[in-house]
Amino acid sequence: FPSLAPVMIPRSAPGTYPQILDLAFSDPQLELRCITAPINSGTSLLGFVKIIRDRTHEISLLRSKDEFITIASHQLRTPMTEVAWALESIAAAPSLPEDQKSIANQALTAVKTLVRVTEDLLNIAKIEEGHFGYRFEQMDLVAFVEKVLESTMPLINQAGLSLYLDKPKEPIPTVTADPNKLTLALTNLLENAIRYNTKNGEIVVKIEKLPDAPFLRVSVRDTGIGIAEDEVHKLFTKFFRGENALKYQTRGSGLGLYIAKNIIRAHGGQIGASSEVNRGSTFYFTLPTDPSLVPVREVPTGF
Ligand SMILES: Nc1ncnc2c1ncn2[C@@H]1O[C@H](COP(=O)(O)OP(=O)(O)O)[C@@H](O)[C@H]1O
Ligand SMILES: [Mg+2]
Repeated sequence: FPSLAPVMIPRSAPGTYPQILDLAFSDPQLELRCITAPINSGTSLLGFVKIIRDRTHEISLLRSKDEFITIASHQLRTPMTEVAWALESIAAAPSLPEDQKSIANQALTAVKTLVRVTEDLLNIAKIEEGHFGYRFEQMDLVAFVEKVLESTMPLINQAGLSLYLDKPKEPIPTVTADPNKLTLALTNLLENAIRYNTKNGEIVVKIEKLPDAPFLRVSVRDTGIGIAEDEVHKLFTKFFRGENALKYQTRGSGLGLYIAKNIIRAHGGQIGASSEVNRGSTFYFTLPTDPSLVPVREVPTGF
C-alpha cells in the first residue's frame, strides 16, 4: 500500500526539542503534525508528551489561497506586460513632446514595478507549496557571479555606483545549484545594494571558500543607508521593509529577501546580513561544495 506510506518532513533540527514532524498521507489526504517534548523533573526525565494535530482542513485552505494567488498573478501578468510594451512604444516615439514622454516613462516604471511584484507573488506561492521546481547542475560559481554582475552593470552605472569584484586567487570547487533560481537570489541582493546605497557609493562583491567547512560564500557589501540593529532579524520575513528604507525610498515590496532566503535554503546554504545604520550593509549566502549537503526534496515552507 504505497499510498499509506506518509511523506515525512522534519520541521525541527535533529536532536532538538520540541521535535516537530509533519506527516502527509495521500489518497485519502491526511496531514498530521506530531510534536514531541520531554517532561523533566529537575535532572530526571519522567517521560514524553506527544501531540498529534490534524491539519488537513487548515492546509487545504492554505492551498486554495495559494492557488488563488497563482491564478490571479498569471491573469494579471499578461495584460500588464502588454501595457508595458505599449507604453514603451509611446515613450520612444520621436514626435512626442518632452512632457508627455516623461509621463509615459513614469507610467512605464510603475507598470514594470507591478509586473515585478506579481512575479514575486507567483514565485512565493510556488515556493510555499514546495513546487518551485529546482533544476540543479554543477556550476562554476565565479563564472556565474561574473555573468550576473554583467547583466546588473547597466543599473549600477545608472545609479552612479562603483562595483568591485573580489574573487579567489586559487581555483575553487564547483557547487550544485539551479542557475535560474540563484540568479533571482543574487540579483535581489545586488538590486538592494543599488537601491539602498548612497550617492557615489560602492558595491563590493566577494566570492570565497570557507576555510573550515565545505561551503563557498558570496557576499555583497554596500556603502548605503544600512539597517537598524533591532530590524536585522526581521529582514528575511515576508513583506518586511525597514524604517530607513521607508524614509529614503518608497518603492519596494519586501518580498525579495524572503524569496532569496528560501532559494538559498533549498540549496543547503545559509543567508544572513550585518549592517550599520548610515554606513552600509553586507548580505551574504553560502552554498555547499559537497552535493550530499543539498536537500534532495523540495519542502513546502508555507504550511
Ligand atoms: N542593502 C540594503 N541596505 C539597507 N537596507 C536593506 C538592504 N537590503 C534590504 N534592506 C532592507 O530590507 C527590506 C527588505 O528587502 P527586500 O526583501 O529586498 O524588499 P524590498 O527591497 O522590495 O523592500 C528593505 O525594504 C530594506 O528595508
Ligand atoms: Mg529588494
